[in-house]
Formats: sequence, C-alpha cells, structure tokens
Amino acid sequence: MSKPRLWITRRLSDATLARAARDYDVVINHEDLPGTAEQLIAASADFDAILPCHSEHFSAGVVAQFSDRLKIVANHSVGVDHCDLPALKGHGIVVTNTPDVLSDATAELAMLLMLGAARNAVAGDRIVRSGAWDSWSPAFMVGKQVTDARVGIIGMGRVGRAFAAKARGFNMEIHYYNRSELRADQAKGAVYHDSVESLLGVADFLSLHCPATPETTNLMNTDRFALLPAGAVMVNTARGALVDEAALLNALAQGQISAAGLDCFQTEPGGNPAFAAHDNIFMLPHIGSATRKTRDAMGFRALDNLDAFFNGKTPGDLL
Ligand code: DGY
Repeated sequence: MSKPRLWITRRLSDATLARAARDYDVVINHEDLPGTAEQLIAASADFDAILPCHSEHFSAGVVAQFSDRLKIVANHSVGVDHCDLPALKGHGIVVTNTPDVLSDATAELAMLLMLGAARNAVAGDRIVRSGAWDSWSPAFMVGKQVTDARVGIIGMGRVGRAFAAKARGFNMEIHYYNRSELRADQAKGAVYHDSVESLLGVADFLSLHCPATPETTNLMNTDRFALLPAGAVMVNTARGALVDEAALLNALAQGQISAAGLDCFQTEPGGNPAFAAHDNIFMLPHIGSATRKTRDAMGFRALDNLDAFFNGKTPGDLL
C-alpha cells in the first residue's frame, strides 16, 4: 500500500523529519517560510495530511477552498487559534494538537520572563554590554523580589500547573483563575478564584496560561490592569491576543504595573515596535517551547497522531 502523502510546512527537528520521511511520502518546506493561503489550498489537493505550526492560518475562507483529498491537520502546537476548527471539521478534516509535551519548556520560559522582568534584566544587560556601567550604589537597579511573593495564574491547564510547580520552588503563594476549580491533588494548595477580577486583586505577579479564543481576546484590558496591585509584574507566554497592548503601555506609564515579560505579541513575527523604548518590558520572540527536547517531543506527538489516524484509530490528541 502506498504511504500517505504528508506536507510538513516548516523545518521541524531532525529526528521528526527523519521519522516522517521513513513513514510517509513527505514533502518538507525546507525554505521554512510560513505556508500561505494559496499553498494551503494547493496542498489540500496534493496531500492526505498537513503537519503545520501556528504560523499557518486555516481560516474559514481558506478551508472553504480546500479540495476533498486532505483528511487530517496534525498541528505541531498546543495552541490552535490559527485553525478555524468548525470550518475544518465541517469539511470532514480531523484536527489534532500537541499538548503536555511543551508544558515544562513553556513554564520554564515564563519563569525566566518573570524573573527577568522583575529584576531589570533588559536594563542590566544593556548597561554592562554597552560599557556604560560606571557606578554602583545600593539604590541601583532595585527590582521586585519573586521569592515569597503572591502570583496569580490565569488558566490552570497543563502549562499553568507546570508554571505553578516551578513557582513553588520560589515559595510563591499561588492563586489561580480557571473555568473550573481544580481537584485538590492538582491544585496542591493553590487558591482558587471564581473570577479573573478577584484573582487580579491579589496578583503581585501575574502569568497568563489560557488559550486565545473570542472570549479571551484582550483579556488584559485597561479595566483589568487597574485591578492589579500597584507595581505588579505581568508575564505572557500564551498568546498575544490576550493582552490589549495599548492598555499595557498605559498601565506601565502609570506604574500600575512595574514590568512585563512577553513571549507573545498581537503581531507575530515582529512584535510591537512601541515596546522597544521600555527597558521594563523583557521580550522574547515566541520561543516558549523552543528546546531541543521539546521540539522532538512535539514532532513525535504530531506523528503519533498521524500514525493513529492512518491506522484507523482515533488520534490521542483529537480536537
Ligand atoms: C504552541 O504550541 O501553541 C506554541 O505557541 C508554539 O506554537
């Protein structure tokens, strides 16, 4: 029997590509540029499966132009806000993602952003690197201490819980908002809030870990920033859509928040040029899951889903 034909839209890890080439009739986008709408539409006629990243946009308009050959979109991401799921399902296309395997890497990066934002990493690095460091005083670059502080987590799914586990290492008092309260063995002492507003009131540090949906778009807006304790630090490793960036700049200007750590932006790639002037915004270019171990695990998880599908089974991460 001939192997299913698979299009891999981006340059995945070597181990992933080797396994894919072994098991599928695979075409890899070695140029490693985001797949365009035209490419996705053409691929739907030439391939049985697509293995995309969050950089490929399966909008309803694009999916409406798909041919009937494409059977499965096996995402190499946990987030699927780049996929119009009703449109894909309506077209009879199976969709999967890669949860679990990137939780620790993403939580690790959230920790880095929280620490870096709280402790002047951008300004500190700049002054040493530029050779401008010519004095020292106890009043110099005084930051906000993470150890023993209160942290609020919005979205206590897998990544939120992995972040909480790391925050416990800093003896942080953990509060969270989630659509539903966790079981005690999952909450591990974290305090549940039944509204975002209630959580924000105690969030000296705030970390966002919920998906981008129509309901969470601009979750952090002017009104919500105003609820944070003065001088709070906000971290976003989830999706740029969760934060109203103009409101964030305003909250920083007013001292409502003292710093932010961002791995995600409304516009990606690129980010927000207005942020560059602010040393108290510690920024990284959407690399939460970018470790060698996690890239292999994400690729293998996407391939596991494809294997299950083409063997007539239900993929483990069916959406
Ligand atoms: C994810 O998996 O959603 C990450 O943001 C990388 O795409």
